[in-house]
Amino acid sequence: MLVGDRDPETARRLGWAPEDPSAEKAQAYVAQCAERWRNADRVPWAVREQEQSIALGHVELNMGNERRARVSFSTYPPARGRGLAARAVDLVCVFAFDELCIARVQLLTDADNLASRAVAAKAGFAIEGILRDYAERGGKRHDTVLHSRLSTDPPPNFDPLAPLDRSQPTAGDGGPSTPQSRWPAKAKRTR
Ligand SMILES: CC(C)(COP(=O)(O)OP(=O)(O)OC[C@H]1O[C@@H](n2cnc3c(N)ncnc32)[C@H](O)[C@@H]1OP(=O)(O)O)[C@@H](O)C(=O)NCCC(=O)NCCS
Repeated sequence: MLVGDRDPETARRLGWAPEDPSAEKAQAYVAQCAERWRNADRVPWAVREQEQSIALGHVELNMGNERRARVSFSTYPPARGRGLAARAVDLVCVFAFDELCIARVQLLTDADNLASRAVAAKAGFAIEGILRDYAERGGKRHDTVLHSRLSTDPPPNFDPLAPLDRSQPTAGDGGPSTPQSRWPAKAKRTR
C-alpha cells in the first residue's frame, strides 16, 4: 500500500499526488476500507498472492444505482506484468455478478492508458465509446474510454485462479483476497 501511494503512475491515473505516507496514514486507510465494506457503497479489496499477506495492488467496486457498479484498480510497480490486475478485475466482476446481483460493471480509462485498456480487454470488457475531453489533468482535457462487462457477457478466456508463472519476480496465485462476508445477505442474480 505504501509502495502504491509513492508510485507517480498510480497517483496520476487515479487522481492524487504521489506521497510518502506514514504508517498511521496507512492504518487510517485500512480502517476506512473496513468502513466502506460496512457501508457497502464503495468496496475495496487488496490484491495479494495466495497464502501471502503482502498487498500487491488494489481493486475497488463503486456501487451505483440500478445494479450498476464501477471498477478501478492498480498493481504496485514490482508486481506488474504478471496478469494480476486482469485476474483481480475478473474475480471482482464474478463476485459482483454472482454475490451482489450487479448487472453491469463499467470502467473508465484514460485513452492513453494502454496498460489499463489492455487489462479491461483481457478481463472481458467491451469498449462502448470514447468520451471526448472527459477528464482534466495538468491543465489539459483528455479523452476517456468507456468499457463495460455485463453479467450476461461470456467470461474472459483465461483461468483467474491458474498458477502464475513462477519465474516472475514475485510468484504466486493472484487475484483479490477472499471477500469477507460483511454483506447483510447473499443477493440472488435475477438475469
Ligand atoms: C494498469 C495496471 C493496473 C496494469 O497492471 P498489471 O498487473 O501489469 O496488468 P496485467 O499483468 O494483469 O496485464 C493484463 C494485460 O495488460 C497488458 N499490459 C500490461 N501493461 C501494459 C502496458 N503498459 N502496455 C500495453 N499492455 C499492457 C498485459 O500484457 C496483459 O495482456 P496479455 O496477457 O494479453 O499480455 C498497472 O499498470 C497500474 O497499476 N497502473 C497505474 C494505475 C492505473 O492506471 N490504474 C487503472 C485506472 S483505470
